[in-house]
Amino acid sequence: MKKYLLSLFLLFSFCFLLAQKKLIVHADKIGAQVSPTMWGIFFEDINFAADGGLYAELVKNRSFEFPMPLMGWKEIKKGGNGKLLIINLENEKPQNPRYANIKVDAANNYGISNEGFRGIGIKSEAYNFSVLARKTEGDVQMTVELISSSGKKLATGSINNLTPDWNEYKLSLLSSDTSLKGSLQILFSGKGIVDIDVVSLFPQNTWKNRSKGLRADLVQLLADMKPGFIRFPGGCIVEGRDLTNRYQWKETVGATDARKVLMNRWNVEFRHRPAPDYFQTFGLGFFEYFQLSEDIGAEPLPILNCGMACQYNSGEVVALNEIDPYIQDALDLIEFANGNTTTKWGKLRADMGHPQPFNLKSIGIGNEQWDEQYVERFAAFEKVLKAKHPEIKLAAAAGPSADGPRFDYAWKEFRKLNVDLIDEHYYQEPDWFLKNAHRYDNYDRTGPKVFAGEYAAQSRGIANSENRNNWQCALAEAAFMTGLERNADVVTMSSYAPLFAHVDAWQWTPDLIWFDNLRSYGTPNYYVQKLFATNKGTHVVPVMENGVVLAGKDSLYASAVMDKNKKEMIIKIVNSSSSPTSFVLDIKGMKAANKEATMQVLSSSDKLAVNSLDNPQSLAPVEKKIVINKSISLQPLSFNVIKIQ
Ligand code: AHR
Repeated sequence: MKKYLLSLFLLFSFCFLLAQKKLIVHADKIGAQVSPTMWGIFFEDINFAADGGLYAELVKNRSFEFPMPLMGWKEIKKGGNGKLLIINLENEKPQNPRYANIKVDAANNYGISNEGFRGIGIKSEAYNFSVLARKTEGDVQMTVELISSSGKKLATGSINNLTPDWNEYKLSLLSSDTSLKGSLQILFSGKGIVDIDVVSLFPQNTWKNRSKGLRADLVQLLADMKPGFIRFPGGCIVEGRDLTNRYQWKETVGATDARKVLMNRWNVEFRHRPAPDYFQTFGLGFFEYFQLSEDIGAEPLPILNCGMACQYNSGEVVALNEIDPYIQDALDLIEFANGNTTTKWGKLRADMGHPQPFNLKSIGIGNEQWDEQYVERFAAFEKVLKAKHPEIKLAAAAGPSADGPRFDYAWKEFRKLNVDLIDEHYYQEPDWFLKNAHRYDNYDRTGPKVFAGEYAAQSRGIANSENRNNWQCALAEAAFMTGLERNADVVTMSSYAPLFAHVDAWQWTPDLIWFDNLRSYGTPNYYVQKLFATNKGTHVVPVMENGVVLAGKDSLYASAVMDKNKKEMIIKIVNSSSSPTSFVLDIKGMKAANKEATMQVLSSSDKLAVNSLDNPQSLAPVEKKIVINKSISLQPLSFNVIKIQ
């Protein structure tokens, strides 16, 4: 009887396995190399991503250079006498002309306070305060205080040795408590006149503890992704609303207080999300972007203005016979990044603290440009840049959409120009991403490579403020990304966009990482990106069911890579169905039978699930052990990464 039952059980198991889906991974047919830049990040100063975000400065309008010079500042008059005047030294100091002239006759009852970026986030930590100041009359002392949102004094320090010359004065302030929306207060006592400028407050705890550096928690989230490249500074911000509002990298290097403030184009872009206090101080400028790329092992990918303003705004273009300065900016940028320290721009890099080159390999010319005017201007850049720097790869934009006449025209023309990379953007509904998992299977294998430079599934629709970083969107992106990986011979770079958003100051949603003044979290989309980027392998290997790639059949999407260095096989599988499924893995050309492997699972039964500041890891990968050749089950709505040594 026992024997009979055992045979029955074995027969049943055999039939079950026969009826199982069988995925065959061809470790015996190693395909294209996966570019080290395959999975990168897209940084744009949108949603307070730079000032108020990654750049850890806590004082808004620190140099009184916003058009409303006291925006972000308030006078404190507690009965004390004082007068504040903004003085403009346009001819002498055109880069940072204004300063505050303060006349006092008071005892700590007159002062100014700064509100920060939707408040100042203060932790029980040390802060560095600094100010440029001089006294022009009498004797004035400054008391600097960190104040909580409820008005409690969290830290205090004083400066009382002002001289008649401009000097930088520094204080270290140790806060006794935490406040999400605190403020900075400077009180003046004595009798006399002082001038102040570049009033600054930074946490001491910055990324790599660099003085006046970047916000450590935000950089850590980026570093954890191990991105292959960083695209910067955008995005539409490169283009500007008109040409004077365009991003000019030379205005963002050198001494920080000489970097001229510019209106952020997202200040006025969306009527439903106005941000009248959104400006660029460029404390996070091109040197810092290069340094950040180097810090986290990512290739820098600057995108430069091509002589065109945003075609959704003014659409203004530089006359073709006046385009040379724009091209010269690109040449000078290559010198700044890679040039010898005896060159003008290479020397500036060295003077800023980085004599070694930054190893720039690629540049994008133009963001979401389209039509003939773009092709003509790109061609002018390409002619000069390829003659002088054939080693630098150039990316051209395919316009703002994933297809259509502008997209087709761009590809046709840029193919003729033999461009290295074409930057495709897709902001589409989740279903588009599922349906487009095949997108690159039949792309022309010759000519330009694809740079999927901006994409994100939109739960409600492009520029809709109801868009959420929910699981449905993230899962659809994962399915689509298996198609990018499978076609790594065509697609060599890709990046989700945008990257960052301040919960109280955003203009555009969805975004990969959200933060407030104290905390930050990665969305489900972040974990999808991270799982791809930290499991990128070195070579694609085919994964098939019945000789067909998995790109939607039975709601399954799969790709596989081998990592020749780490001797790993990595298989990524999305189950986009609301039901569980299972399969058997057969790995040809590799002794994997009965081997233990790990499976990272990212899943939720709720398509609308999101992460949040309070529940930052509600949806995050969970690791399981599995055995190859045994039936492997996939949870409903799941993204799975199997790794076999
Ligand atoms: O990512 C937000 C914006 O979307 C980018 O600035 C632009 O390139 C695209 O239209």
